Amino acid sequence: MTDTRVLVLVGSLRADSLNRRIAETIRDQAPAGVSVEIVDGLEQLPFYNEDLDGADAPAPAAALRTRVAGADRVLAVTPEYNGTMPAVLNNAIDWLSRPFGQGAIKGKPFAVVGATPTPYGGKWAHEDTRRSARIAGAAVVEDVVVSQSALEGDILADPEVVGRLVAAVQALAAYQPETAAA
Ligand SMILES: Cc1cc2nc3c(=O)[nH]c(=O)nc-3n(C[C@H](O)[C@H](O)[C@H](O)COP(=O)(O)O)c2cc1C
Repeated sequence: MTDTRVLVLVGSLRADSLNRRIAETIRDQAPAGVSVEIVDGLEQLPFYNEDLDGADAPAPAAALRTRVAGADRVLAVTPEYNGTMPAVLNNAIDWLSRPFGQGAIKGKPFAVVGATPTPYGGKWAHEDTRRSARIAGAAVVEDVVVSQSALEGDILADPEVVGRLVAAVQALAAYQPETAAA
């Protein structure tokens, strides 16, 4: 049986990003039967503009759409900026939401995890990401979310935190829309 392919969109562009490290940890500790790929280059997407979209959409947008269309699941790993998701992630979702009703994200099981150095762990960003992805057509897996506070120490050195992050990926990979609707 082939692996379930989870494509990861990281909401931080920072070289030393904690959320990037979370994505890498999830990739390196992916459960059996799950392969995790991190998308690079979200900063190369132009800001979404309907004038640019269509058959000649910019190459980075077309490439992202192709990768998402070929994935089994999409996972956003993101911090929070000013009470919501960072613009780079929002922009990626916008590109993936078009053509209207037929975007690459349509029907794709989707979840979000991430961490911020506050007690709330970025939960507003994660709520907004889920809402935006749902409106874009994704099949958001409601109970698969980790908003992790990174106030205390290196969260990726804590096996309990890493276990919850890996469990989230496992649940996303195992999600079946039919059973969820039952
Ligand atoms: C522009 C900006 C806005 C931020 N706003 C929030 C916020 O609203 N809530 C929060 O928890 N953290 C906020 N932060 C702090 C980020 O969560 C923190 O920098 C985090 O480590 C970024 O994730 P990264 O390590 O993956 O880059 C903000 C940071 C920046 C740069």
